[in-house]
Amino acid sequence: MTVLITGGAGFIGSNFAINWLDQSDETIVNLDKLTYAGNMGNISALQDDGRHIFIHGDIEDQSLLQKIFLEHAPRAVINFAAESHVDRSIDGPEVFMQTNVIGTLRLLEASRNHWKNLAEQEKDKFRFLHVSTDEVYGSLTPNAPPFVETSRYEPNSPYSASKASSDHLVRAYHHTYGLPVLTTNCSNNYGPYQFPEKLIPLVIHNALRHQPLPIYGDGLQIRDWLYVKDHCSAICSVLDKGRLGEVYNIGGLNEKSNIDIVHSLCGILDELVPCAADTPLKSYKDLIKFVKDRPGHDRRYAIDASKIEHELGWRPSETFESGILKTVKWYISNQEWVEDIRSGEYQSWIQKQYK
Ligand code: NAD
Ligand code: TYD
Repeated sequence: MTVLITGGAGFIGSNFAINWLDQSDETIVNLDKLTYAGNMGNISALQDDGRHIFIHGDIEDQSLLQKIFLEHAPRAVINFAAESHVDRSIDGPEVFMQTNVIGTLRLLEASRNHWKNLAEQEKDKFRFLHVSTDEVYGSLTPNAPPFVETSRYEPNSPYSASKASSDHLVRAYHHTYGLPVLTTNCSNNYGPYQFPEKLIPLVIHNALRHQPLPIYGDGLQIRDWLYVKDHCSAICSVLDKGRLGEVYNIGGLNEKSNIDIVHSLCGILDELVPCAADTPLKSYKDLIKFVKDRPGHDRRYAIDASKIEHELGWRPSETFESGILKTVKWYISNQEWVEDIRSGEYQSWIQKQYK
């Protein structure tokens, strides 16, 4: 048996592949374009593992997809591949539409062509699981209840609009063709192998180099943070037991403002790697710098995860305190990985974004 994952050299996909092969002998075929966000270093632990087949390619490439389905006949597809950074989508939305919308469409079409020719029993077992985001629901006011699966779609950034479009395509393939799909909408993830353009790894990275910690606007925007391995376990539960055509919201029960996140990170770093006495810094908090806000910045996201909990028995296993401590320790011990990531492309993005 084989599962096809896309985007498995990125942050969540690589954690998923590693966790999967820790718990199962089922082969993973991993299709990734290796954009700036995809890194073979994330899956170096799987390099000599015969159960992991890496294919360098694009989910938009129809003939490659056809070849992969013919050769590997996966019993499930899990679609992680995406352009995933909101700030980049503001800077250049087009590639987001290409990968997130057209790419998902091509993957759905290839999956449908494969699935419709399967024998009845295999057809029943086939799954297409689409990994999406809570950002499709838009922004919550301070006292509004968290997002449920039936919350209205109100995407506000080019990124969330492209993910919303892909969710609609997945839904349409179920409704129109009967493709056995599942969709997950998850809150913000953190953990090992996250590209240091996102808030948590960026702050750890800059703090360790005594560089400014940029906080957009007033820093009171709220996100619901989930440790990445809990997201991976939720995806496994949905793949195993989710009801066809259904959407499952996944969240960490951890609403925190950005400024609180940055204070927590600085507090942990102050304990683990105290600022040297011969520097002007007393605490990493001295590096905090409020900068211009992101255009259209969503104020608050929060997830009501009671459906996945009641139907599938999933709950996060990490608290924010345990997950964030593991994460900071991982980045401190994996500075070589961070240095590898800081390529010319990374430097030019940082120059452009924070000039
Ligand atoms: P990421 O940016 O770290 O990784 C994306 C991966 O997809 C990279 O390896 C990249 O090379 C690959 N990729 C990009 N375009 C491709 C293409 N056309 N063909 C094949 N591969 C391609 O993203 P991530 O944070 O790991 O997110 C994975 C998925 O989870 C995305 O769909 C994202 O929308 C969703 N999600 C992310 C979060 C989060 O907090 N990171 C939260 C909820 C949902
Ligand atoms: P990010 O990690 O980019 O995830 P998302 O935009 O998908 O939620 O950002 C998380 C929050 O942190 C978001 O409210 C924007 C904010 N942020 C900053 O304040 N400074 C930064 O340098 C970055 C990258 C993000």
